[in-house]
Amino acid sequence: MKKLRLGFMASHGGSNMQAILEAIAQGRLDAEAALVISNNSTSGALEKARAAGVPWRHFSSVTHPDPQGLDLAIHDALVGHGVDLIVMAGYMKKLGPKTLERFHGRVLNIHPALLPKHGGRGMYGLHVHEAVLAAGEKITGVTVHLADDVYDHGRILSQREVEVVDGDTPETLQARVLTLEHQIYAETIQRIASGEIRL
Ligand code: GRF
Repeated sequence: MKKLRLGFMASHGGSNMQAILEAIAQGRLDAEAALVISNNSTSGALEKARAAGVPWRHFSSVTHPDPQGLDLAIHDALVGHGVDLIVMAGYMKKLGPKTLERFHGRVLNIHPALLPKHGGRGMYGLHVHEAVLAAGEKITGVTVHLADDVYDHGRILSQREVEVVDGDTPETLQARVLTLEHQIYAETIQRIASGEIRL
C-alpha cells in the first residue's frame, strides 16, 4: 500500500517534526517525510530536515513578497512532492487559500492546550501556558486538530490531558506539555495512516 506522504510546515525548533521523523525511522509510524517547508531560513526545523535528508524549502514574505505568490509556491512544492497530508508543527503563519483548498481536510495542527480553550490569535508559545495558569486550570493538555483558515479551529482528532501542579510556571508546563506533544502527534498520524481516523 502507498505510504502517506507528509509535508511539514514549521517556523522554529521543529521538535515535533523531529519526533515524527523518529517515529517513522523506528517503524512506529507508517508514513514518509516528503518535504519540509519553513518561513524561517535559520529554523531548527530546516537544520533537522537537512540532517535527516528530507527535501526542504524556505518560502516566506522575503522570498515571495506577494501573498498570492507565496501561497502558489507553497502549493506547488507540496503538490510537486506528492504530499498527502500537511503537518503543521509550530508553523506561525496561516496557509493561503489555494493551498487550503487543494489540501482541504488534510491539514493537521498541534496546539499545546485543550482546545477550544486557550487557542486563537496570539495564543502561541508561552502565552498559552501563561493563560492556562492565569485561568487557574488544574488540567491542560495537547490537541491535534484539522486546520482551516481560522487559528486553532477545525475538527479535533485527538486530545490528551496534562495535570497542572503546584509551583508550575509557564516554562515547566510548556516542557511537560511538549513531551506529550511528541508522542501524541506521531500516534495520531499513525491512526490516520491505519484508517482508524478518517479524514
Ligand atoms: C509546539 O508547542 C506546538 O504545539 C506549537 O508550537 C510548538 C512547536 O514546537 N504549535 P516545535 O517547533 O515542534 O519544537
